[in-house]
Amino acid sequence: DWTMDSIIEDSVAAIRAEVGDDRVILGLSGGVDSSVVAALCARAIGKQLTCVFVNHGLLRKGEPEEVEEVFTKQFDVDFIHVHAEERYLELLSGVTDPEEKRRIVGTQFWKEFFAVAEDLAQDGRPVKYLAQGTIYPDIIESGARKTGGKASTIKSHHNLIPFPEGVHFDLIEPLDHFFKDEVRALGTALGLPDYIVHRQPFPGPGLAIRIIGDVDGEKLTILKNADAIVREELDAYNERLFAETGERNSEHAVWQYFAVLPDIKSVGVMGDERTYARPVILRAVESSDAMTADWARLPYDVLARISGRIVAEVPGVNRVVYDITSKPPATIEWE
Ligand code: XMP
Repeated sequence: DWTMDSIIEDSVAAIRAEVGDDRVILGLSGGVDSSVVAALCARAIGKQLTCVFVNHGLLRKGEPEEVEEVFTKQFDVDFIHVHAEERYLELLSGVTDPEEKRRIVGTQFWKEFFAVAEDLAQDGRPVKYLAQGTIYPDIIESGARKTGGKASTIKSHHNLIPFPEGVHFDLIEPLDHFFKDEVRALGTALGLPDYIVHRQPFPGPGLAIRIIGDVDGEKLTILKNADAIVREELDAYNERLFAETGERNSEHAVWQYFAVLPDIKSVGVMGDERTYARPVILRAVESSDAMTADWARLPYDVLARISGRIVAEVPGVNRVVYDITSKPPATIEWE
């Protein structure tokens, strides 16, 4: 694709011109935006880029492995996997308030990230730049900056990043004049796999806000396993919808789908045994912008398959319920 290639070449040239011989650090979240920035910077400056993946243990099943695979095998960058799972579990222990969970996950991310940045600088080659996956709608929504519709790749200040005392990075935000669908197209052109490029929206605080009440390792395991089944079945359902319409377009598909683990148990029976175990809530919505959403009218056989598989395959779960509430009055997430 000529247009895409020339957009990539322009971005690569702009990044090279700005960065020169300096070092760049970037926080990988597993999402589309940070992955595309990483892929662009990889092409522009290779090992001058250090990608920091802070693994908070709250991503979905398989995602940390996917991120590591892509950025160690496919792109020639410096990749650091920070295993922060235990620290997050400790910090979240006993915390039930959704906003408190969000605050903890967000604050700890920057702590972990800046600790790595400080470590990197020990070898005498300080890190001058921080690359970020800010996209155009982020700027409009936050109202943080006004670019007058004109692209500016480099900024020296960002009021959303809590830089520690005495710490400063210049920012590189190569996606700040692109919309989401353009970012996805860039990702594909850069060779990122579909499971990253077409990843459904996923909240920054991750599974911490899909476990109602306090978070622990056992609940996380149950939720990851149930959610993996939901995604497998609804990915396949979406593929069938795409095949019918001949178009890979979210308007023709279920937009966001996942499992939620509530803080209750209920009675069931398995074989000759009474069980007292957890229910899993299935959430699947149609939407175009997450501002409003309609619960997805999934076929009964799809629902039956998901329910049957979760109860059979996930230990600790004996019931599956489907959330049939739209937004408003509900929200997409439960917390
Ligand atoms: P709600 O639940 O408000 O969600 O209907 C709307 C969209 O935003 C996502 N979401 C979040 N994303 N941090 C994020 O990065 C958050 O704290 C957060 N909360 C909700 C949600 O998945 C949906 O796509």
